[in-house]
Amino acid sequence: MQFGYFDDKKKEYVITQPDTPLPWINYLGNEAYFGIISNTAGGYSFYKDARLRRITRYRYNNVPLDVGGRYIYIRDESDFWSPSWQPTRKDLDEYECRHGLGYTIIKSKRNGIESQTKYFVPLGQNLEVWELSITNRREVEAGLSIFSAVEFCLWDAVDDSNNYQRNYSIGEVEVENDVIYHKSEYRERRNHFVYFACSQPLAGFDTQREEFLGSYRGWDNPICVQQGVSHNSKATGWQPIGSHHVKINLEAGETKNIIFLLGYQENPNAEKFNPPNSQIINKKYVLPIIQDYLKEETVNKAFVALNKYWENLLGKFMVDTPDLHTNRMVNIWNAYQMMVTFNFSRSASYFESGIGRGMGFRDSTQDLLGFSHLIPDRARERILDLAATQLPSGGAYHQYQPLTKLGNNDIGSDFNDDPLWLVLAVAAYIKESGDWKILDEKAPFDNQPGSEDSLYEHIKRSLQYTLDRLGSHSLPLIGRADWNDCLNLNCFSDTPGQSFQTTTNKEGKVAESVFIAGLFVIATKEMETIARYVGNENDRSHFYNARTKMENAIKSHGWDGKWFKRAYDNEGDPIGSSQCQEGKIFIEPQGICVMAGIGIDNGMAEDALNSVKERLAFKHGIVLLEPAYKNYYLNLGEISSYPPGYKENGSVFCHTNPWIMIAEAMIGRGDQAFDYYHRINPSAREGLSELHRCEPYVYSQMIAGKEALKPGEAKNSWLTGTASWNYVAITQYILGIRPTYEGLQISPVIPKNWKGFSATREFRGCEFTIHVERIGLGNSVSIEVNGEIIEGTIVPTPDNGAKKLDVHVFIQ
Ligand code: BGC
Ligand code: NOJ
Repeated sequence: MQFGYFDDKKKEYVITQPDTPLPWINYLGNEAYFGIISNTAGGYSFYKDARLRRITRYRYNNVPLDVGGRYIYIRDESDFWSPSWQPTRKDLDEYECRHGLGYTIIKSKRNGIESQTKYFVPLGQNLEVWELSITNRREVEAGLSIFSAVEFCLWDAVDDSNNYQRNYSIGEVEVENDVIYHKSEYRERRNHFVYFACSQPLAGFDTQREEFLGSYRGWDNPICVQQGVSHNSKATGWQPIGSHHVKINLEAGETKNIIFLLGYQENPNAEKFNPPNSQIINKKYVLPIIQDYLKEETVNKAFVALNKYWENLLGKFMVDTPDLHTNRMVNIWNAYQMMVTFNFSRSASYFESGIGRGMGFRDSTQDLLGFSHLIPDRARERILDLAATQLPSGGAYHQYQPLTKLGNNDIGSDFNDDPLWLVLAVAAYIKESGDWKILDEKAPFDNQPGSEDSLYEHIKRSLQYTLDRLGSHSLPLIGRADWNDCLNLNCFSDTPGQSFQTTTNKEGKVAESVFIAGLFVIATKEMETIARYVGNENDRSHFYNARTKMENAIKSHGWDGKWFKRAYDNEGDPIGSSQCQEGKIFIEPQGICVMAGIGIDNGMAEDALNSVKERLAFKHGIVLLEPAYKNYYLNLGEISSYPPGYKENGSVFCHTNPWIMIAEAMIGRGDQAFDYYHRINPSAREGLSELHRCEPYVYSQMIAGKEALKPGEAKNSWLTGTASWNYVAITQYILGIRPTYEGLQISPVIPKNWKGFSATREFRGCEFTIHVERIGLGNSVSIEVNGEIIEGTIVPTPDNGAKKLDVHVFIQ
């Protein structure tokens, strides 16, 4: 069963019933002002940092689900309702939500009153627009009241939800010329405030939550809306809100538009107040913005500009394959999801509360892998921001806060894989952009002024960090954990409530990771090439030797006979081995070791991938391990704390599946690679929405595995490394259009029954038009560029500066 459909022309997903299995959401904002919005207008907004600068309040895991949002109420003499269905949940005669790229439009109709609200954040602005248009489809005139409602958050979302002894006393607002200003703590150390404005003259307003709702009443039944009268309340303390009341009369057939603006503004410290010695906000800088964006013309222009922005961005790489789901994901939704993960890392979604995590080091570095071609400048900046948090040892803070860009250990430290991902991110960026100069850019360590060194030095230290921490099998020590946060081999937690992410009881000198070993090999190969390019032969041969040793260690201590082992525990016993009772085989080392090229020449790679197929793959994807842990193991940690089939304990942890797709493509098995791609492609799963439950337009972190009670049920949609890795798998390995240091490689490994495909790809300022034709059943490729046959599979950008290339690829 489906709850909507894809409108590919408009690049929208159209939800046709409000009670989707879970809130199906979208993101607003591109640069600094952001919001999340559900298909029933739930969600919240923040400036840069979902924890430290939260603008509106949202209560996670509430009942009913997803109450708190950007609400509008419509009232006539006998009735009131929410045009977005929530929070009143009164039946609508018609309902439709269109989630598009950076905007959401919710349309509905009840008792002949039709409404449409378009929510978006204009480019370059720190505000969101709600453009409401109401039409009277009745035969007679309608007298209506429109109420808006948001609940303000007192900035720091953590403090906001626990420090009530203070917070019930600090709320402050101003209302001036019908604009509501939320200014809690502005009198003291803050220089920012929020405004909520409306394009129509007000019949009233409210800023105190209880005055608006009435005591013991909820957002589903505010007393002001029920009675049709605002109380003009001024919040002092308690819970500041913003609500406007507008009265309109609509002739039969008549439409009226109302614009609401919710925005964030900072004032220079010296000019916070006007008059200067008062406590009144100086509106000099904000009023021109408000006046401008309350004009329909400005709003319309901003919406056109937003659409253009996305069209240009996504237009940089378009494919036309025989598979609809591939086209839809690559051209629209997968690319869009990558931009969202770039902006938010794992901080704010309907599963990530915005207070638990900032920008993850390994998450953000992996998010960079797929899309440097979309926004190279911002990718560059992100790489340097991440490098600046790197520790002098070469290690990494596990995360940093976007507002301060400073690293912290709040969710653990010493994840020994972290620093290696930086090498991959830098390599991906250079391959895409050809911008070798980035290696000379200076970045500090641990953000300490005076410690600056080149990015080249940073990535060398990333690799050295691994070499400084090898165990008795010459494999890398795992530290707190590697990519799999839940494989906690030095934690040994036996006390309820202890965090697996921060507790360590063992010294960490024994447990080793085959996964990090594979990742190290991939990273060193990049480093060797980079060192060769910059002419540093010493570094190149140093890393070549280190890599060769690591490859040997993997082959002798990381191979289990039919697949790669996962790790060695604190006793030196293998994990992910046929010797184990449970967790005999893990997906991660099979993917990463084959991607590192290990065993491709001697059959190990093929055996490993055959084992994946036999033991881990099922119809909803490839599970992380098998058999899942039924018992809790002190020496393994969080992984065994999850019920079998969920999360790291044997779900389809989607992030890992593209590694297998890439590995399959690398050994030339295009049908198998594409089959795996299809199993977790959200669009291909749309028909299973009742089971899958999460949005059919984006990847989720996990799909319950074969040992789960409900195999096929997804969780944790949106913020997952799955987005960039799947994009890499399909575009660079299956379709085979892969940036390299020398040029754009085109080496597809597509299904046998595809006759070909075509693509346009912007690469280093040149537009490649690519036609791929299958003329035989193998994977070998010959290429014609502008009609001339070239050698090999790499197409360099033209020496003569030409801006277009025609590339014909023949697969034999
Ligand atoms: C989750 C992991 C996550 C970790 C850190 C664990 O509970 O299962 O997926 O990476 O927490 O937040
Ligand atoms: C989610 C985390 O964000 C990511 O960093 C980690 O690799 C996976 N969970 C696997 O545990």
